[in-house]
Amino acid sequence: MIDMVRGLVGVASPFLAPMWNVISVVAVSALVYFAIYRLACMGVATFIQNFFPIPSLVKFGKWAVVTGATDGIGKAYVQELARKGLNVVLISRSKDKLEKVAKEIENEFRVETKIIDVDFTETTIYERIRKELDGLEIGILVNNVGMSYPYPELLLDIPNGDRRCMDLINCNTTSMVMMSRMLMPQMEQRQNGLVINISSISGLCGVPLLTVYAATKSFVETFSTSLEYEYKERGILVHLAIPGYVATAMSGVREPTIYVPSATDFVRGDLRSIGWLNRTGGYWFHNLTVMLIDGGKYFLPQTMKSIMWYFLHPSRMKVLNRQNKKLKGT
Ligand SMILES: NC(=O)c1ccc[n+]([C@@H]2O[C@H](COP(=O)([O-])OP(=O)(O)OC[C@H]3O[C@@H](n4cnc5c(N)ncnc54)[C@H](OP(=O)(O)O)[C@@H]3O)[C@@H](O)[C@H]2O)c1
Repeated sequence: MIDMVRGLVGVASPFLAPMWNVISVVAVSALVYFAIYRLACMGVATFIQNFFPIPSLVKFGKWAVVTGATDGIGKAYVQELARKGLNVVLISRSKDKLEKVAKEIENEFRVETKIIDVDFTETTIYERIRKELDGLEIGILVNNVGMSYPYPELLLDIPNGDRRCMDLINCNTTSMVMMSRMLMPQMEQRQNGLVINISSISGLCGVPLLTVYAATKSFVETFSTSLEYEYKERGILVHLAIPGYVATAMSGVREPTIYVPSATDFVRGDLRSIGWLNRTGGYWFHNLTVMLIDGGKYFLPQTMKSIMWYFLHPSRMKVLNRQNKKLKGT
């Protein structure tokens, strides 16, 4: 049998050689074309996010709803939406933080606010939110709320793991599905609305040591891009923002750098791209990272995971060593 195959290959080799050459040329050309196309898209996105004005947003409706609204990226959306003249509903856990941020933006931008203090790790909160939002013309929903691990860790070693994993899944995914189902009917009726979903670069490919967080962010991406297709002919714009590190409490990065924007810079860049881009990193370095990971996950999937592992493992060891020292000290 093997001899027969060898014989056939021997007979066919004069024909196979030129065919392989053609296949190689086509494959390399396709790769180069794809790379140039993606680079051009990234350039255009970055141009829009730096030089275009934020479009009018009141055209979507009088009110915007932002989840996870009192800190970081959520607070920056609240501020920028209010700056554009929208009244804002702020939803987070801590009532005092909600009251403080609501007062700040009422005074600064002369808009109305409403606050709802709920914990998105719980699944019984949605009837209350529905009642509180009843009667408001809501044009924009920002599904921003999210939580991660206390530090990068293996699935089985996450402190208080069962509870933490359930909370993370409810907060990062259930909230987005339930809030969209609650508010999109009125948008569909008016044939007008905008839903902004916040994913993460970690959702683009698996991230060892942040397995559950990364998986919830993949969910956000799949949900968002599918929903965008479902409702694009029904007047609802569904927009996916895919940030890398942003200087907030969650990332632990205190000062913005050229690679880590402030929440305000990230949100302004993202809002400038509304109506132009449905899926974006929101900031030049995040656009570049999204482009590299989008390509890398097909060609070098294991390498991408190794890079993530080596990037996160030192933070894990730092926390574990600190805990060990504490234990030995007691
Ligand atoms: N920062 C980054 O580098 C980064 C990178 C990629 C993706 N993201 C994503 O961006 C989103 C915002 O992140 P961030 O960095 O701005 O976070 P953050 O600074 O930690 O702010 C989180 C906000 O959500 C609220 N919140 C947290 N848990 C909640 C819960 N269980 N129920 C209700 N509200 C809750 C917090 O207020 P209370 O504590 O008062 O509830 C706060 O207002 C998240 O989805 C995150 O995954 C962030």
